[in-house]
Amino acid sequence: MTNSPAFEATLGKAFPRHIAIIMDGNGRWAESRGKARIMGHKQGVEAVRETVRCANKLGMTSLTLFAFSSENWRRPEEEVSFLMELFLLVLGREVKKLHKNNIKLNIIGDCSAFSERLIKKINEAQALTANNTGLILNVAANYGGCWDITQAAQHLAEQVSQGKLQSSDITEAMFAQQLMLAEQPAVDLMIRTGGDHRISNFLLWQLAYAELYFTDTLWPDFGEQALTDAVAAFLSRERRFGCTGAQVRAWMNDSKQG
Ligand code: IPE
Ligand code: IPE
Ligand code: MG
Repeated sequence: MTNSPAFEATLGKAFPRHIAIIMDGNGRWAESRGKARIMGHKQGVEAVRETVRCANKLGMTSLTLFAFSSENWRRPEEEVSFLMELFLLVLGREVKKLHKNNIKLNIIGDCSAFSERLIKKINEAQALTANNTGLILNVAANYGGCWDITQAAQHLAEQVSQGKLQSSDITEAMFAQQLMLAEQPAVDLMIRTGGDHRISNFLLWQLAYAELYFTDTLWPDFGEQALTDAVAAFLSRERRFGCTGAQVRAWMNDSKQG
């Protein structure tokens, strides 16, 4: 019927292997309580901890969290510096626990914009957890889907200019190999909290066939129940990858019997 690896992998394993989350609504969570926006970011860390714990328990391959977009630099300077300090603090505080739980931490994004202190912490945290074999926790920081695609194009263009590659030989698979998350399963489920229905320059290529799930829950209120609800919604959907529903159901029956 089809030889799309994403399609076959998904039918073979209905449970999401890779969940990506746009953690939105921290500011509104705080504002609705008469607090400063930064208090929402602080509370959001608790939701991150809880989500990582649940994702690990569910035995998923990858969890990708959008922590800071390439556009978030446009925010007031105090908020940006608070977020950078928080990132530094959380990395320092949580990395041992991640390591103990066999979780591999992977920061995706343009880290060159960060302070030396933060870059050092990121490198140390990644090195410590590099050989872990459990959940891969990708944290998108100074990440933009457009940046990701641009840097992939630059790498391929470099190979072309060095005469190692013909531009006409570039395939989708080759391009995908240059993107962040190249070695990981495609995103099955993308969750956005906070009530807005947009991608905000998160993963673009990698979301090509993801199921999208939007919830009004604000990020600091997200936790095991909200994640379970999202996974339940995912499991109730029929992923078709361009095929017809009848083809998909026949394939499902075959794989159950086989
Ligand atoms: C998401 O929450 C966290 C970051 C973008 C860093 P927001 O800070 O965007 O919260 P709202 O959307 O203003 O409520
Ligand atoms: C997306 O949220 C980025 C993160 C959650 C890190 P934003 O709050 O920045 O998105 P927009 O600006 O409302 O689209
Ligand atoms: Mg927001």
